[in-house]
Amino acid sequence: MNVDGQHYQSIWYDELSDCVRCIDQTKLPHEFVILELNSLDSTCHAILSMQVRGAPLIGITAAYGLYLALKSDPASYLDARDALLKTRPTAVNLKWALERMDANCQGVDSKRLAGVALATARELEQQDRQVCESIGDHGALLLRSLWESKGSPEPLNVLTHCNAGWLATVDWGTALAVIYKANDLGVPLHVWVDETRPRNQGASLTCWELGKHGIDHTLVVDNVGGHLMQHGKVDVCVVGSDRCTKTGDVCNKIGTYLKALAAFDNDIPFYAALPISSIDFLMRDGIAEIPIEVRSADEVTHLSGLSDKGLVETIRLTPANVNVHNVGFDVTPARLITGIITERGMCAANEAELAGLESEA
Ligand code: MRU
Repeated sequence: MNVDGQHYQSIWYDELSDCVRCIDQTKLPHEFVILELNSLDSTCHAILSMQVRGAPLIGITAAYGLYLALKSDPASYLDARDALLKTRPTAVNLKWALERMDANCQGVDSKRLAGVALATARELEQQDRQVCESIGDHGALLLRSLWESKGSPEPLNVLTHCNAGWLATVDWGTALAVIYKANDLGVPLHVWVDETRPRNQGASLTCWELGKHGIDHTLVVDNVGGHLMQHGKVDVCVVGSDRCTKTGDVCNKIGTYLKALAAFDNDIPFYAALPISSIDFLMRDGIAEIPIEVRSADEVTHLSGLSDKGLVETIRLTPANVNVHNVGFDVTPARLITGIITERGMCAANEAELAGLESEA
């Protein structure tokens, strides 16, 4: 997508210097910084510290991390794979991407191994772009028909949670791809952006993306969605996902479930936009089985932002040493989901319809 007139992906391979470059998302929206990844350690650090984040992007970054490890030591495959797999537990795309690397790298001799790993990572990167663009194309038709059925020239009001935009994938995004493509179709849109505590991906990343793309949007704190829905101010919710079970339970950033409950209570359609690589066909019960990331207390007790002096500063919000429980994700049961938008189109959130996508995975 474009940043001030220049096209960027969130990650790319730089042939000239044989390294991987990505946008440092911990610096947005205040600074636009390009990071260089040139080792396994720098890649693991980028994923752990959320310089790169978002389920599809975590997978592509891990694929490149494996290449960087093999480039310096072709015998390090298993250790490097293990280190990458441990970085973040919830997004299944990490495992998916490493399994794609396994499939292509198995049996390759050590001289060719790094080259095959690089070619595979680049292929996964390209595929991710195409897949997300297709998700956008399918979802845009849905938004257009929802807008047409409103029967008024007023914009369609879409609520989204966290950041499922191009920053969370290689390009386009998932939930936001739907919005970008609907905008391209000429659908008038207004987006309610949940701030998404504690890391504020909505406030910092989604607002930045939508602003750069010229999409009308309003930031709200996480508890506002239910009120907006009760007052007819939300026409549809569209979110991304970190892992969806074979039965259609959708795991996404913490707080998504409460939005789905409020949408259900107010008869508002609630869609998850996700690539097939986010479906875990080994899991049936999302609440019982999906591993939920528990993160540092600092993310809840402290806030970072730009001070009046133009410096990025961190302040503490809470009494010192308060007990904190900081879980990163929750699971929205399939019964609350109106539909799932993948690169193959729309399907219901149930086992029978999702089974049709398993061969693609
Ligand atoms: O913790 P994050 O920022 O990696 O969480 C990201 C999300 O929850 C996104 O909604 C999800 O990965 C879908 S991204 C297309």
